[in-house]
Amino acid sequence: MAAYDLTSQVGCFLDRHLVFPLLEFLQVKAVYPEREILEAKIELLGKTNMVDFAMDIYKNLNPESEVPEGMAQKKQQVMEKLKKYQEIAAPLVHFLSSPDHVKQLQSDRAYNLQLLETEFQIGSEQIEGLYHYAKFWFDCGNYSAAAELLYHYGTLCTSTDRMVSALWGKFAADILMQDWETAIEDMGRLKDIIDKNTDALGQLQQRTWLMHWALFIFFNHENGRNSIVDLFFQDRYMNAMQTNAHHLLRYLAVALVINKHKRSMLKELIRVIQQEQHGYTDPITDFLDCLFVKYDFDGAQMKLRECEVVLQNDFFLTNCWEEFVENARLFIFETYCRIHKCIDIKMLAEKLNMEHEAAELWVVNMIRTARLQAKIDSKAGTVIMGTQHLNLYEQIIEKTKQLSYRSYKLTNSYMQVVQAQQNPVAVGY
Ligand SMILES: *[C@@H]1O[C@H](CO)[C@@H](O)[C@H](O)[C@H]1NC(C)=O
Repeated sequence: MAAYDLTSQVGCFLDRHLVFPLLEFLQVKAVYPEREILEAKIELLGKTNMVDFAMDIYKNLNPESEVPEGMAQKKQQVMEKLKKYQEIAAPLVHFLSSPDHVKQLQSDRAYNLQLLETEFQIGSEQIEGLYHYAKFWFDCGNYSAAAELLYHYGTLCTSTDRMVSALWGKFAADILMQDWETAIEDMGRLKDIIDKNTDALGQLQQRTWLMHWALFIFFNHENGRNSIVDLFFQDRYMNAMQTNAHHLLRYLAVALVINKHKRSMLKELIRVIQQEQHGYTDPITDFLDCLFVKYDFDGAQMKLRECEVVLQNDFFLTNCWEEFVENARLFIFETYCRIHKCIDIKMLAEKLNMEHEAAELWVVNMIRTARLQAKIDSKAGTVIMGTQHLNLYEQIIEKTKQLSYRSYKLTNSYMQVVQAQQNPVAVGY
């Protein structure tokens, strides 16, 4: 299972707090020995303020021994830090906690700073303090507090670097709170900021981060599987992936396989997979390569089995397996039909990695929903393809379009009837 695990590659481009959910997942899936995961967690927590949490894990790991001196000291330090930042940020935090005060703020930064300075004796020291105070809470795992404080900080700070840093922090906090809508907004802001950056190397680096952080959104938000395809295929982002992070190809490939609306990009994906073959392959890219480049059905089928292990044990993809296999079978079937006239269901079942009966049922369904020109000869156990080669996907898309048009018409006439019933006087005569 560990052979295809990408946690360490992906983790390099994440905030340490974002790595935590990945470790939790690996622990549940028992991808690595429990001890290794727990040690990794302690290591990760060591650089945060979550000392109690680290202590608990340590005790769990070493029930016999005392908690190390360093951890107890760290706890003391954290308390001192809290006191310090709390004191500095207090006037501003107090100001922000009053809705009446906050109402006086306007969209003009200079005006706000002036107002804070003259009316409330709050200056740059307190505003800087707010940043540290927010960072403190973030490091404690108090992401909601951090997100709120960082939001306010972003409206008041005067340094661009600091503002960008606060936005990254807020983006991480959004993700950790699973507030996907806000996360998408902040991602858009970061994307714009990166585009305006004049340092090409910094741009490349930040784009690579953004792609990794956004994986949380892509595989959780309902529109995510469109967004990932749209973002990753932009030249700048494709370039970042091919330069810095080949492993992201897995996520793009899975998103494309399960996304019926983005079929047109498949060719482009295959091209990238072929280009990257020296640097990155996994069962998912191999599967696509077998099917669309080599027309090796046996190879594809073998790879599909490996894909199951990979997807089930990937934090981001674990919920995609069902859809992935369904679409992968569709790919196999379609490609197979394109090059065969008479298909033996037994053989097809093998290629699709399904039971004979299930495969027959699946084919019947497929033929019906896609209106394929094909007949099933149950006795001989074969599917005979019609003369014309129909594009399965075009058919499906056409059907879906008709469906939504018809639903629209239906809803319209229904609404007319309802309205007519509500206003009987207006009807008739
Ligand atoms: C989170 O931070 C806020 C300060 O903004 C604090 O009042 C609250 O107690 C913290 N929550 C936890 C669970 O530490």
